[in-house]
Amino acid sequence: MATLAELVTLRTDLNPTEIDHLQRLLGSWSLMSDLSFSDLLLLAPVAIAADSSTGFVIVGQIRPNNCPTRLSVDLVGQTLEYNVLEGASTHGRSESWFLHHEVFSPSLRIESFPVRFEGNEIAKVLRLTGGHQHTVSLYEQLYADAYNRLSRMVVEGVFPFAEADVYVEGSPRVGDGVIVVDEATQVEFASPNAVNALHRLGIFSPPEGRYLVDLSDELVVVAKSLEVVEPLVAEVGRRSEVAVLLQAIPLVASGEVTGAIVLIRDVTDVRRLDRLVLSKDTAIREVHHRVKNNLQTISSLLSLQARRVSGSEGRSALLEAERRVRSIALVHEVLSREPNDQVPFDDIVTSLVAMAHDSVVTEQSVEIVVEGDLGEVGAEIATPLAVALAELLQNAVEHAFALPDAAEEVDGHWVIRHEELIGRVHLGLRHDDEGIEVVITDNGRGLPEDFSIQTTTSLGLSIVRDLLQSQLGGTIEMLSTSAELGGGTVVRFTVPLNSPQ
Ligand SMILES: Nc1ncnc2c1ncn2[C@@H]1O[C@H](COP(=O)(O)OP(=O)(O)O)[C@@H](O)[C@H]1O
Ligand SMILES: [Mg+2]
Repeated sequence: MATLAELVTLRTDLNPTEIDHLQRLLGSWSLMSDLSFSDLLLLAPVAIAADSSTGFVIVGQIRPNNCPTRLSVDLVGQTLEYNVLEGASTHGRSESWFLHHEVFSPSLRIESFPVRFEGNEIAKVLRLTGGHQHTVSLYEQLYADAYNRLSRMVVEGVFPFAEADVYVEGSPRVGDGVIVVDEATQVEFASPNAVNALHRLGIFSPPEGRYLVDLSDELVVVAKSLEVVEPLVAEVGRRSEVAVLLQAIPLVASGEVTGAIVLIRDVTDVRRLDRLVLSKDTAIREVHHRVKNNLQTISSLLSLQARRVSGSEGRSALLEAERRVRSIALVHEVLSREPNDQVPFDDIVTSLVAMAHDSVVTEQSVEIVVEGDLGEVGAEIATPLAVALAELLQNAVEHAFALPDAAEEVDGHWVIRHEELIGRVHLGLRHDDEGIEVVITDNGRGLPEDFSIQTTTSLGLSIVRDLLQSQLGGTIEMLSTSAELGGGTVVRFTVPLNSPQ
C-alpha cells in the first residue's frame, strides 16, 4: 500500500509542509477517534491535473479501539466525488448529513470539519457516527466535550502540534486511561482506568477536583506541557516496581490554553516483558557459549586420541574430525558474543584461514590472501558455510602443493619440501542482494585427471557438496586452471539468500 506521503504527493497539490501537517495529524488522531467513539477518514482534495474527476482522495482512516468499527473496508487511496459531500464543505464547524455512496451504509451519519494549516484549508476530516449502537460509556458526554475541543483545534490549525512526534510507539490510548484537567491542572474528570493507573503510583484519593501537581510530584509533566504548550511524554514510577506512561496534550481555544488531555497507561507488565526478553537474549548467548565449550572439549579429546593411534590413516582421520568440530565451535563462539542471530562472518573467516595456515608447516610458507568480505550472515547459514570453507581451504593447503615427493605428513601436518614452489591461495568473498559467492584459487598442481566434484566419493568434498547443494540450496564448481593461467585449482560456490534449510 502507498504511504500517505506517496499518495498525497501523487494525487494532490499539497506542499511538503502541508503533507507534514497531515502526517502529524495521522500520528495523533487516534485520540480523536477514541474520544468520539467514531471511525475517522482524512480527505485531501485531488489535484486538478492528476485526475480527471474532481473530488477527494482518502488519505487516512482510523478505527476507534474502544468500540466496534462502522467501516469494515479499508478506504485509503479511494476517491470520493465532490457531489457526495455536497453541502458539507463550507462551514467551519461540523455539520451532519447523510452520505450516499456505495462504501457507506445508508444509516451512517457523517460529520465533517476542515483541517487548517497556516490559514488554508488543506484537508477534511469525516467522522462516521450512527449505524449501530456502540457501548455507551459513563463518560460519553465528557469524552464528546474533549473531542469537540480537539476538533476545534484542528479547524483552527493548532492541532496536531508542530512539535508532535509522528507516532510514539506504544503511546497510551484513551482506553488505557484518560484524565482531563483545566489550565491549572485541576482534574475535571478521570476515567476508571486512569484512576487505576494513579493507584499504581500510590495516589488513592479520588482525583476529581484536585490539582494533579498536588497529587504527586511525578505528574509534573502535565504542568510542564501546559506551560510550554506542547504535548509531552514521560514514564514515571521507575524507581519502584511500577512503570506508568503519561502523555499530556494541551487544549487550546482561540490562542488560550484551556487545559489538557492526559493519557495514562500502566506499562508495568510491558516493562517486565522487556526485561524478560533481554534476559532471554542473554540466555541464548550463554547457551552458545556452552555449546562452544563442549565442542572444544570434543575437539581436544579427538586430538588426544589421534596422538595415541599408531596408523597414520587412523590418525589423520581423527585429526580431520577434530578440525571439523573446531570449525563449528568457531561459529558458536561468535554467536555467544552477538546480541542477535546475525553472525559477522569476517571474524570466522580470519579464524578459518589461521586454522588452515597452522595445519601446514612449510619451508616457504603458504600465503593465503583474502579479498572482499561476507558481512553479516544468518546463524543458520553460518555453520554449514564455515564447515565448507574450512574443508576447501584445508584442501588447498593440503593437496595443491603436495607434489609427489615434495610433501610429507608429519604428525598430522603437511610439510612441503619442494623449495621452488610458493604456495598461494586466494579467497574471494562477495555478499550482495542475490546471495553469497566464494571463489578459492590456488597455484598448485591442479586436480587429478577425471576428477569431478559431482561424482567424487571422498569424505571431505562429499561433505562440502552435501552442505552447499542439499542443505543451503547453492551450487559448487571445481576446475583445474590451465597452465597459462599459472595452473592450480579454482573452486567457486554460491549460496542464495533465503536458502532452504
Ligand atoms: N585444491 C586442490 N588441489 C589439488 N587437488 C585437490 C584440491 N582439492 C581437492 N583435491 C583433490 O580432491 C581429493 C578429494 O578431496 P577431499 O574430498 O577433501 O578428501 P581428502 O582431503 O581427505 O583427500 C583430494 O584427495 C585431492 O586429490
Ligand atoms: Mg579434504
